[in-house]
Amino acid sequence: MDSLLIQGGRPLNGRVDISGSKNASLPMLAACLMADGPTRLHGVPRLSDIASMIELLRSLGCDITRNDPPSLGDTGKIDFAGRPALDGPLDIDPVDESPDTCTYDLVKTMRASVCVLGPMLAKRGRVRFSVPGGCAIGDRPIDLHIRGLKKLGATFRQDGGYIIGEAPDGGLRGTTLYLGGARGPTVLGTINVLCAAALANGTTHIVGAACEPEVADVAQILNKMGAQIRGAGSPEIVIQGVDRLVGVTHTVIPDRIETGTFVLAAAMTQGELRLRNARRDHLIAVIDAYEQADICVEDDDENGELVAHAPDGLKPVDVTTQPYPGFPTDLQAQFMAAMCLADGGSIITERIYPERFTHVAELNRLGANVVKEGPSAIVRGGGKLQGATVMCTDLRASAALLLAGLAASGETRLDRIYHIDRGYEKLEEKLQAVGGRIERVNDKADAQIIAA
Ligand code: EPZ
Repeated sequence: MDSLLIQGGRPLNGRVDISGSKNASLPMLAACLMADGPTRLHGVPRLSDIASMIELLRSLGCDITRNDPPSLGDTGKIDFAGRPALDGPLDIDPVDESPDTCTYDLVKTMRASVCVLGPMLAKRGRVRFSVPGGCAIGDRPIDLHIRGLKKLGATFRQDGGYIIGEAPDGGLRGTTLYLGGARGPTVLGTINVLCAAALANGTTHIVGAACEPEVADVAQILNKMGAQIRGAGSPEIVIQGVDRLVGVTHTVIPDRIETGTFVLAAAMTQGELRLRNARRDHLIAVIDAYEQADICVEDDDENGELVAHAPDGLKPVDVTTQPYPGFPTDLQAQFMAAMCLADGGSIITERIYPERFTHVAELNRLGANVVKEGPSAIVRGGGKLQGATVMCTDLRASAALLLAGLAASGETRLDRIYHIDRGYEKLEEKLQAVGGRIERVNDKADAQIIAA
């Protein structure tokens, strides 16, 4: 397994190109199952989770090809939408609609596989889906997905380790349904029901919908395909079902969690990073918390960049994670790492995934002083972090440890970095380009050195 070696204590300065959103790309790829003909997606990041979704969609009869990046203009941007070129577009063509099974070995690698349920029921009327397992951030049920799809007329039964879903003979039927759960709305559950309703007979009102920008981006491509969706991005969405959807071209929104992560990288290393392809409007609550911590996030409109730095060090700030537009759970671990450096104590409360604290013990190995207390973590702050060997446990915890390693004095070794490869595109290259001393090592190579 690969590890990352980080020589910390060096300020990061320079430009970073933010990749397309992982959490918009995954459900958007699944939505392509619903189109007659090929769809071209620009800005889909090259990540292991994306590779898993591509493998799943190929097993469901899709031809998928990754094109080479178009040649870069002299401004370092490609011509579509003036976006920085990180990779070429993906073409997805659902050529064979006969497969209906999402096998265990494909589903177990990624919970987000669940977002094929809605598209498959809407377009093919049937899906066999391996029951998803849990993951490091706790139980990940899909009861809200199933409840919402049942309201549209789908039936489900369990057979072996599979859930078998079927649409009624005449197709799914529009209705009014409430989708909220005990811990608030469900992002992928909202998208599943949105997709299913897009091809249902009649009108669907989703009440208690998730408001994340990724939901709005999926609704936008569906409307381009011919769907009739209003209100996506708000708690109530109205969908007028249509007979068919056609393939289109679309550019995925930037990754707001990657943006929030790199702002903290600048702040924690006393550097200054200029972020291209970053959307401030997707980070209002995040930037509000960051500014309370004395992190500056300024607009350079002339260059279309967000400029992040924290020249006066970090102030302690209490944060509670909420559904969008609140502070996102996916930045909780990274913000905790930053608060370890703040000159005082702070309380970080997790309302979405109460188990999402596997990074606490690892941060303490780096010299932090964090104590978990029920749904919160008490961060004592004021610490000087020292490099150590730490273990990645999930995607965002890994990002938190990477940030801490960049801020710590000495060398930090991050083991099991396959977690990071799930959600951060070209992370070492991006950090090296702004002065980060970071390299990927393979344990086998290390073993050879030791054996020699
Ligand atoms: C999406 O997961 C994101 N993943 C997650 O990002 C993110 O943390 C999460 O939304 C919350 O913002 C993708 O978009 C691929 P939920 P999702 O359904 O949709 C409970 C990352 O790091 N719930 O919004 O699966 C659930 O347990 C990942 O990029 C039910 O109870 O999350 C949680 O407490 C991690 N029943 C809450 O709702 C259900 O049927 C929110 O979950 C579904 C969810």
